[in-house]
Amino acid sequence: MLTIAVSKGRIYEDALPLLEEAGITPIDDPKKSRKLILKTTRDDVELVIIRATDVPTFVEYGAADMGIAGKDVLLEHGSDNLYEPLDLGIAGCRLMTAAPVDAPEISGRVRVATKYVKTAQRYFADRGIQADIIKLYGSMELAPLVGLADYIVDLVDTGNTLKANGLEPRDLIINITSRLVINKAAMKMKHQAIQALLDQFETTLANR
Ligand code: ATP
Ligand code: PRP
Repeated sequence: MLTIAVSKGRIYEDALPLLEEAGITPIDDPKKSRKLILKTTRDDVELVIIRATDVPTFVEYGAADMGIAGKDVLLEHGSDNLYEPLDLGIAGCRLMTAAPVDAPEISGRVRVATKYVKTAQRYFADRGIQADIIKLYGSMELAPLVGLADYIVDLVDTGNTLKANGLEPRDLIINITSRLVINKAAMKMKHQAIQALLDQFETTLANR
């Protein structure tokens, strides 16, 4: 049995066509079902439905053989214990700094609100900027509006969320897409099945 970890949100939407081309369609619709383990149209493949940020953890510990996770989540998780063989090119966005529209650049110490604590820490340290990072779990855009932070570090796609809150994108930290990640032991023990799936995904992506 091959277990694939996916999150329910936008990654799932984009991953579904890829999985379907490999003959993997969940029997129950994850949007309607409360089940966390979903059988699929392939007897040898099941999906586990978890939070996006938990995908690397499940795969690292072998609770799932493989998973689909955003590069943002993988960077923040920061493990060398996963293979990351394939950029699936889905759920594309940018990890950026943002600040209130027209707010002047700050020369000294800055306060930054984000859920990407490690990535933000590294980014500002690499630039020699002293930054106090404030961990939030959501609604980052609110932080500069209520004086909690000078900047945020968050994902930007259309830019609508920033705009709606009087913020503007500043610096690009990294372009984000979702990646296929594989447990190292599973890659050895279930090599044939995993390689076949990898080949299938690569062919689908090449034909896009
Ligand atoms: P959790 O469920 O753990 O709170 P989440 O709410 O961030 O996670 P999603 O919004 O589904 O979950 O995002 C999952 C992944 O999709 C992110 O890690 C990122 O790689 C990508 N993503 C997030 N926001 C966007 C966006 N606006 N446009 C494109 N891709 C995005
Ligand atoms: C993500 C991200 C931004 C927004 C950016 O949030 O955290 O808030 O998308 O997209 P945009 O540039 O197209 O507006 P999401 O919709 O996933 O909400 P959540 O993180 O609060 O769950």
